Amino acid sequence: MFTRGRRLRKNKNMRDLVEETSININDLILPLFILEGKNKVEDIPSMPGVQRKTIDYLLVDIKEAISLGIKAVILFPVIPEKKKNKKATEALNKKGLLPTSIKKIKKAFPELIVISDVALDPYNSDGHDGILEKGEILNDKTVEILCKQSLIHCEAGVDIVAPSDMMDGRVFEIRNKLNSKGYEYVSIMSYAAKYSSSLYGPFRDALNSAPKKGDKKTYQINPANFNESIKEVLNDQNEGADMLIIKPASFYLDIIREAKNLCFLPIVAYQVSGEYSMIRTTADKGYLDLNDVMHESLLSLKRAGADMIITYFALEYAKLIRK
Ligand code: PBG
Repeated sequence: MFTRGRRLRKNKNMRDLVEETSININDLILPLFILEGKNKVEDIPSMPGVQRKTIDYLLVDIKEAISLGIKAVILFPVIPEKKKNKKATEALNKKGLLPTSIKKIKKAFPELIVISDVALDPYNSDGHDGILEKGEILNDKTVEILCKQSLIHCEAGVDIVAPSDMMDGRVFEIRNKLNSKGYEYVSIMSYAAKYSSSLYGPFRDALNSAPKKGDKKTYQINPANFNESIKEVLNDQNEGADMLIIKPASFYLDIIREAKNLCFLPIVAYQVSGEYSMIRTTADKGYLDLNDVMHESLLSLKRAGADMIITYFALEYAKLIRK
């Protein structure tokens, strides 16, 4: 006998009844690009619909996001070129753009979960996530700085630090550092499997943070590799991460699924700038329906096993499902 799979698709109620995956507003994390100063908004040409804004404007956006049910934001500071140097010293400025923004956001919205990206690329004149010396990215020296950077974010009141640098051993070292300074309850959301992807281009435009020379292949993972990613994910779990990011998302659904199967921590899919821009610009041309594809793209990440999604569509999607 053959089976009649169509019985379960016969009408909307039946389809809804057997639906396996859904996206909840609780699952979405909103990324924000922060500009210095006030009363400024800038478009990002390669990310239509996303803007860099000063904190006064961002506080308004955050209020709206919260009213739509969004629970978490992840912050990326736009550091002016004149403040960048080879040692990324601005990353350790307690009065810098990121710590002061964290303070303002937590003061206005104490319950909001604020996540900070921990890496040196926004501050580093070389545009790398770590310290570059004689053509090499120095692992342990970078990790020392990342620990200090994480501590500064904690002092400013952040709820979660998210190391995005892919240096070895940083989760372990950051965890120890935070514990030793009384921040046992600040979580680590590690970029556990971060590929050396060509999909980060628009983000690097947004922060003007592209590497000046070379690429990130000595620290980010080769897109050809599966086992290597799973090894990294398990390492970060063992080192004490609380949540694990897989990044990019849509091209790496196999990694999301495997991480979900093997790990006991929440899995976060990062739908990166290039994924966003591909959908957005194609829809802007009228070749795809934006709302439908946005929904399908996020749904696929949940189906693959993501518990949470960092997406530039967060605000728009929240408005869409509100209706
Ligand atoms: C920096 C960082 C990057 C992204 C998040 N954190 C860029 C990179 O590694 O070059 C990319 C996010 C995106 O493309 O949306 N460490």
